[in-house]
Amino acid sequence: MKITYLGHASLSIEFENIHIIVDPFITGNELAKKIDINSLKADYILITHAHEDHILDVEAIAKRTGAKIVSNFEIVNHFGNLGLEGHPMNHGGSWQFDFGRVTYTNAIHTSSFPDGSYGGQPGGFILETDEGNIYIAGDTALTMDMKLIPLQTELDLAVLPIGDNFTMGIESAVIASDFISCNKVLGYHYDTFGYIEIDHKKAIDTFKVKNKELILLDIGNSISL
Ligand code: NI
Ligand code: MN
Repeated sequence: MKITYLGHASLSIEFENIHIIVDPFITGNELAKKIDINSLKADYILITHAHEDHILDVEAIAKRTGAKIVSNFEIVNHFGNLGLEGHPMNHGGSWQFDFGRVTYTNAIHTSSFPDGSYGGQPGGFILETDEGNIYIAGDTALTMDMKLIPLQTELDLAVLPIGDNFTMGIESAVIASDFISCNKVLGYHYDTFGYIEIDHKKAIDTFKVKNKELILLDIGNSISL
C-alpha cells in the first residue's frame, strides 16, 4: 500500500490495481498547486465529511474517472443527485470492498456542505487490507470513541489531524495515538490556512519524546506500508 500526501487532508492510497483518493481538496490549495487533479487515478473516493476543504475536487475527479464515492448516506446522496455513483455508509458500519474492509468511524466535528445544507454527521475511516490496517481520522477532536478502535483492529498507521483550531492539535494527537494503540502517525490537516500553521520540528519532537513517530510528508511524497 502506497500512501501519497496530496496536501491538507487529501490522500492517494494505491494498491496494485486499485486507486483510492481521500477528501480531495487540491485545486483550492495554493500549497498543492504542483498536483494536477487530471493526473490522479481513482477507483474510489472516500469522503470523511461535507466541508469544502474535503470535497472541492470530488465532482471533477469522479466525473473523469468514474470513481465510486464512499461516504456517509447524506454525502453519497448529494453526489448521487449529480449523477455520481456511490456507496453509502454510516457510523460503526463496515463493508468489504475489493481492496479491503472499510469502517466508517465517529468523529467530533461538523459537516455542512458549502451552501449550508446538511452533510450528515462527520466521520473517519478504518481500512483493513492485506497490506496493512490504517485509520484515517478525518477532522475530529480527541474523543474517547477512539479507544474502541484497538478492540477490533490492530493498526499499522494512523492518519491524524494535527493543525489545531478546527481539529485536535499535536498534544491531543499524541493522546489519540495512545487511545488507538498506534505509535506510527501520518499528520494531516495542517499549514493550509493561517489558523492551522504548525511548527514541524516541535510537532515531530512532541511525538518523539513519547517514543512515537510523526511523519510529515511534503506534498506529493509517499510512504509505503
Ligand atoms: Ni471540516
Ligand atoms: Mn477540514
